[in-house]
Amino acid sequence: MSVTDTIKQAVTSAVVHFSPEAPPDPLIAKPRTGQYGAVGTSLPRVDGPRKVQGQARFAAEVPVEAMTYAALLHASIPRGRIDSLDTSAAEAAPGVVFVMTHRNAPKLAPPAAFLSDPRAAGASSLPVMQDASIHWNGEPVAVILAETQEQADHAKSLIRVSYTAEPASLNFAEAVQHSRRLDTVMREPGLVEIGDAEQALAGSAFAVDRVYNTPRHSHAAIEPHAATVWWEGEDLVVHDTTQMLHQERWTLAGIFGIDEERIRIFSPFVGGGFGGKGLWGHQILAIAASRLAGRPVRVALSRESVFRIAGGRTLTQQRVALGANADGTLAALIHTGTVAMSAHNNCPEQFTFPARHLYAASAMRLEQRATDLDMLANTFMRAPGESVGTFALECALDELAEAMGLDPIELRRRMEPDKDPTSGRAFSSRHLLKAFADGAERFGWSKRNPTPRTRREGEWLIGMGVATGTYPYYRMPGGEARLILRRDGTASIQMASHEMGMGTATVQIQATAERLGLSVEKIAFEYGDTALPHGTLAGGSSQTASIAAAVTAASHVLIADLLKLAGNDSPLAGLKADEVEARDGGLGHREQADRFESYVSILARAGRDEIAAEAAAPPPLEVMQFSMHSFAAQFAEVRVNAVTGETRVSRFLGSFDCGRIINPRTASSQFRGGIIMGLGLALTEETQFDERTGRIMNPSLAEYHVPVHLDVPEIDVIWTDIPDPHAPLGARGIGEIGITGVGAAVANAIYNATGTRVRDLPITLDKLLG
Ligand code: MOS
Repeated sequence: MSVTDTIKQAVTSAVVHFSPEAPPDPLIAKPRTGQYGAVGTSLPRVDGPRKVQGQARFAAEVPVEAMTYAALLHASIPRGRIDSLDTSAAEAAPGVVFVMTHRNAPKLAPPAAFLSDPRAAGASSLPVMQDASIHWNGEPVAVILAETQEQADHAKSLIRVSYTAEPASLNFAEAVQHSRRLDTVMREPGLVEIGDAEQALAGSAFAVDRVYNTPRHSHAAIEPHAATVWWEGEDLVVHDTTQMLHQERWTLAGIFGIDEERIRIFSPFVGGGFGGKGLWGHQILAIAASRLAGRPVRVALSRESVFRIAGGRTLTQQRVALGANADGTLAALIHTGTVAMSAHNNCPEQFTFPARHLYAASAMRLEQRATDLDMLANTFMRAPGESVGTFALECALDELAEAMGLDPIELRRRMEPDKDPTSGRAFSSRHLLKAFADGAERFGWSKRNPTPRTRREGEWLIGMGVATGTYPYYRMPGGEARLILRRDGTASIQMASHEMGMGTATVQIQATAERLGLSVEKIAFEYGDTALPHGTLAGGSSQTASIAAAVTAASHVLIADLLKLAGNDSPLAGLKADEVEARDGGLGHREQADRFESYVSILARAGRDEIAAEAAAPPPLEVMQFSMHSFAAQFAEVRVNAVTGETRVSRFLGSFDCGRIINPRTASSQFRGGIIMGLGLALTEETQFDERTGRIMNPSLAEYHVPVHLDVPEIDVIWTDIPDPHAPLGARGIGEIGITGVGAAVANAIYNATGTRVRDLPITLDKLLG
């Protein structure tokens, strides 16, 4: 098939499934009564038994003959050059196999940075260990391979390095003074302007104009980054923990100058990704060192090394100015600000995105600026942009509501747009106000006293706050799936997808069971291997829709092929694909119950052991026709100690509108996990960056405070479960929405409790005292 034909076929298919005129995916509307009605049920995770039995093998657990263990030595200056590097004692230390530095590292092409090409996975385009120059405090300067991890770690301590430091840009307040406007942010314009927002603000009946600051955050997944790698001649085998299998393969091929087909990457289990499990320096260094040493290498980063070489969320300074008319409609919405990046990455924390789609306003100015610091490249971290953007926007709305004497939910009702406020497109499905109404009722919002500091129990001041959460719907292009039906009645879905704990295989098995009329026990999902059909990355809360679109396309091919195979002796003889449906383990006429043949019977009569069908997902044209977003109404109740300033979140409710929920069990976990991460953002998490030295000062879980059990109250989650007619399965993303709005809901509750507005995250007790 020519490229044009492929595109034509894909576009036709997309129109059939996602255009305004076309009926929605039949699976969305199918009644839930049949014995195979798996969508919408709480199927337990299919990989659960293997995980609790310790049989799920993660990247650092892959056994291999003649393994060596890697330790990384980190630079201790933010910018400059290595003067001397004495590795002789390390090389002579017990068990040491090999030491690699810039002096003996192979020539490597710079990584293709994420977003520079749809196939790119590099977190940074900085060349890895290619010369004596230093670009951030923490950059690896030596890799030590030894027979054991302990020997490698000990040898690392014997290396002596001296540097010539050069002036470095480390101070954000200073760097903000020479920021630049970004032309594009995640392929969207860096500036959106409608009317003259400053003028509208000046003339509005009510106005707030505030500055909000959010800090750096570090990735702290339960599984630290790790890879086990080896060469088999010219072929490279990588066991990694990654969110982007095929992109990592393409990017590694470019760095090492080898054919993509020579690389195979396995990643069957990922112990939490959150945006941090991309291609960083450690995989590249391990592969290079393995080649030079002629031995397999396991690089399992220490928690400290994760903080030093795998970036997280960058810091932001944001201005939100809102001007309201007397009736509560918005005359002006201004959201501008600056983030810090390194000079080698492109991840600008798209904090203006919520304001582009949430509220109607007569005039808008939304502008993203950036400035470079000499620091580790920042990267994606659960709802990059929306998590901190909603903090600023939704806190400002709370301030506006108070200035107007309006309930904050009522204010949002008056600002509800009838179409996307910046693109003008229709919403594919938007029930934010229902999420607020349902949430308010369940949470007991009517009991809130709008006057701050009016509820007190002993030392504890009690308050409630609310905020909107939102995250875009994405579906990644390029996914391909293969479906296999076997004569023993089993089936497989094959696609190089990612399981980071969210239930990828589980929900796809549910959807495929229903689509093919099979029971879930008969279906396996094979994923996590670049030898499988091309997967899309697990990011942007897009995987469920991306996989489902490819599987749906493959199911159409499969049904057409099955009809051909059934031939003239079948009860199905003469039927066209659109006249049949998959049900009860076979195909049947849509109206005539007796015209049916099982898959097993079709295969048996044809003398076949199995039938396989493969197809690519249609391009995600739905996002060009509609404004597609998940929504949330987040409700927090806090208790703030009037003596110590300590904040305890006592109750939390997330009320979500994300389309169809495929599996309530796995979805609840996604929502709750996002909210818990939001509690960290609100109250405890901050990567301490020493602006004199560029050194991260709290690179451990003892000093970088993620919420622990005692920090997390009972979290209630509910959802509208209204299918989105323009998304595969009717489902929009749910992976990232949970964290959005949480920072603001907590901050607004703290204000209601104490009368103190804190506009700088995290809201630690010092900010609530005095
Ligand atoms: Mo996510 S931050 O797209 O893994």
